[in-house]
Amino acid sequence: MQKLNLTISLEKYDNETELTPIEQTLLKEARKATYKSYAPYSKFHVGAAVLLDDDQIITANNQENAAFPSGSCAEQSAIFWIGANHPDRKIKAIAVIARPGSGDDFRGVPPCGACRQAMLEYENRQNEPIRLIMLNSDNQILITESIGDLLPLKFNEF
Ligand code: THU
Repeated sequence: MQKLNLTISLEKYDNETELTPIEQTLLKEARKATYKSYAPYSKFHVGAAVLLDDDQIITANNQENAAFPSGSCAEQSAIFWIGANHPDRKIKAIAVIARPGSGDDFRGVPPCGACRQAMLEYENRQNEPIRLIMLNSDNQILITESIGDLLPLKFNEF
């Protein structure tokens, strides 16, 4: 028997001003998108902003449903809309952020497992990595170079 250690590497920034201007814009747009979320059940408003290869930014948010599993996470709302409307565009980066409750305080939200798998599909489809921008619990910015980094032992590698 051997033990295997799988590691991922993340970029960590203490301050948003260290990001590139477009990455700062993505986070700003993701924050804005939380205000249009429909989250009457969890009251956890999530926003996603996606940068396409023509520099267009598409935003979306979580859309909940009384039958809980029927809702959609922000990341999935965004990428499925892009898949439906811009199938030939490549996704360069996705920023995701949450705003719990009715205030204006934001916190990080690492994408849920289903969102990771859904985003991986688009990364594989375009054959180019998608950068994922998120915050940790200390409000530092974490960036993965690809969605695949977030899914060790990913389904499509077997
Ligand atoms: N949510 C997202 O939008 N993205 C995630 O990656 C995690 C969770 C949403 C789903 C639900 O509407 C609310 O956050 C609480 O789980």
